[in-house]
Amino acid sequence: MPLDVARIRKDFPIFTRTIRDGKKLIYLDSGATSQKPQVVIDAEVDFYAKHNAAAHRGAHQLAEEATDLFEASRQTVASFLGAKSEEIVFTKGATESLNLLAYSFSNAEPGSKFFIGPENSIVVSEMEHHANLIPWQQLAKRSGAELKWFGVTSDGRLDESKIDSLITANTKIVALTQQSNVLGTINNLEQIIKKAHQVGAIVIIDACQSVPHIPVDVTELGADFLAFSGHKILGPTGVGVLWGRYELLNELPPFLFGGSMIENVTMTDATWAEAPRKFEAGVPNMAQVVGLAAAIKYLQAIGIEEVHEHEKNLTAYLLKELAQISGVSVVGPTDLSLRGGTVSFTVDGIHPHDLGQYLDSAGIAVRTGHHCAWPLTRALGVPATTRASLYLYNDNSDIDALVVAINEAKKYFGQ
Ligand code: ALA
Repeated sequence: MPLDVARIRKDFPIFTRTIRDGKKLIYLDSGATSQKPQVVIDAEVDFYAKHNAAAHRGAHQLAEEATDLFEASRQTVASFLGAKSEEIVFTKGATESLNLLAYSFSNAEPGSKFFIGPENSIVVSEMEHHANLIPWQQLAKRSGAELKWFGVTSDGRLDESKIDSLITANTKIVALTQQSNVLGTINNLEQIIKKAHQVGAIVIIDACQSVPHIPVDVTELGADFLAFSGHKILGPTGVGVLWGRYELLNELPPFLFGGSMIENVTMTDATWAEAPRKFEAGVPNMAQVVGLAAAIKYLQAIGIEEVHEHEKNLTAYLLKELAQISGVSVVGPTDLSLRGGTVSFTVDGIHPHDLGQYLDSAGIAVRTGHHCAWPLTRALGVPATTRASLYLYNDNSDIDALVVAINEAKKYFGQ
């Protein structure tokens, strides 16, 4: 069933405000962060107002309530991903999830399946945003391992032609994005995951731009670890998820040490709790976790399939409209079966920052620049782009407004 966007927008208080002297807010920057429905804001407020206590600490009623809400949220996230509850680790965001993994590999002892040394390689792609590149660059430097990467084809897909020389018996980690935050490309990772597992490598998926927009079932995907952020999926900032296949997650050494992640402690040593607790040192970000669960329930009530279908239709309309503006070039695949609703483009003769400022003056929020994926924009030979990223609260009228404003900007800048 098509989404009732007018009704959905009523759930998001931010759409009641205006921008730049009374203009309607046209929010096309959900790739950077999504807006929040009232139910998410209420869930956080409700936690602080009625249930605030330190989860997993204390035997009093509030601590019990906080623990129950925290663990019920874990269950909500798990069922959304087709995972087991004990496979979900809460972090502060996808960046922390990926750093957690990289540092946990560093903490592995020789002989462990996670130990990485100069004889090993780590494989990423040129399509990664910095959060799924720099932690692996740094792990390569710490361990002496070689960093290798898949390139990108001229139409913005992963270039898999060198898979056999990239993924070899020495490969320890393959860390790839499921959906590019710049190109919108949705990567079919089946062959790569298969090849990685044939050589015994561990596959890590950056799902920041996929989980909020397309159905993702970790069992079907077949990877080993997956990370995403709460704030891009209608949830609060300050919460992220790391999913790991339980037998791997439980064997992985911890990264952050402190309260709650332990089994036993003496003055000179400690042993670790089982996963996921051994990765959640310190009092957790309970209100944000509860807010994330509210966001996921909100999306589930609408239907993630329906959200995906809606974004596909919007993307088709956006691509068709952009193609009709002379001087506009889309950076990334134009084949709808290969992409999601993140559309980057350039306009001849107008720097993206100037265009972004012009669009802002019309009430339109887009992102401009290298989108935290500097090597990709360099490889594509475009130092910066303008990016419109769509979500369930956008409709064709937002795209119409963007198109009108781009045409006006062209006149303003003499193009
Ligand atoms: N990675 C985020 C983006 O694409 C911040 O904007």
